[in-house]
Amino acid sequence: MYNNWEELENSIVNCKKCKLCQNRTNIVFGVGNKNADIMLIGEGPGADEDKQGIPFVGKAGQLMDKAFKGLDIDRQSLYIANIVKCRPPSNRVPENDEAEACLDYLRNQVILVKPKIIVLLGSTALKNILGKEYGITSARGNWIERKGIYYMPTWHPAALLRDETKKIEFWKDLKSVMEKYNEIKN
Ligand code: URA
Ligand code: SF4
Repeated sequence: MYNNWEELENSIVNCKKCKLCQNRTNIVFGVGNKNADIMLIGEGPGADEDKQGIPFVGKAGQLMDKAFKGLDIDRQSLYIANIVKCRPPSNRVPENDEAEACLDYLRNQVILVKPKIIVLLGSTALKNILGKEYGITSARGNWIERKGIYYMPTWHPAALLRDETKKIEFWKDLKSVMEKYNEIKN
């Protein structure tokens, strides 16, 4: 556990705790407001993120940005990170040993950000944060409260690229997030 961002970031730069270190160009640590009330958690970097070292800058991220814009959500007011910090080959789902090796970094990020709300983007985020017994299809759209943090599981934005009909639910879930945020922010 690191008590400040600098120490945490420095500890990750040369991380070789799992095999994903072998093919990465850059570690994708996280981006945004380090005091955000709302944190979003994705799966892992894709090709664009690996190149730039920033989460959700590729196609899926751009689609998510559009949803933010439509709902008047300022990306700069959020903190965004992933389950694994290095790109899995061919964008495959991170394996259990990889997620487990990397999760301490994310837990440390959550402790430092102290978000009130965490949006879980897709199955990998949901299962690794709340438990393997959860499934995204039934969990999405429903609030789960744990230790004073409100969790909203929703579709991963890449799923919206494959299935347009999921966009409506994704939008609805983000709307719930903003409603909850307005309800609890003070
Ligand atoms: N998909 C993710 O889960 N995270 C990213 O940063 C980009 C795409
Ligand atoms: Fe380290 Fe995480 Fe990268 Fe694995 S994915 S090498 S645990 S930073």
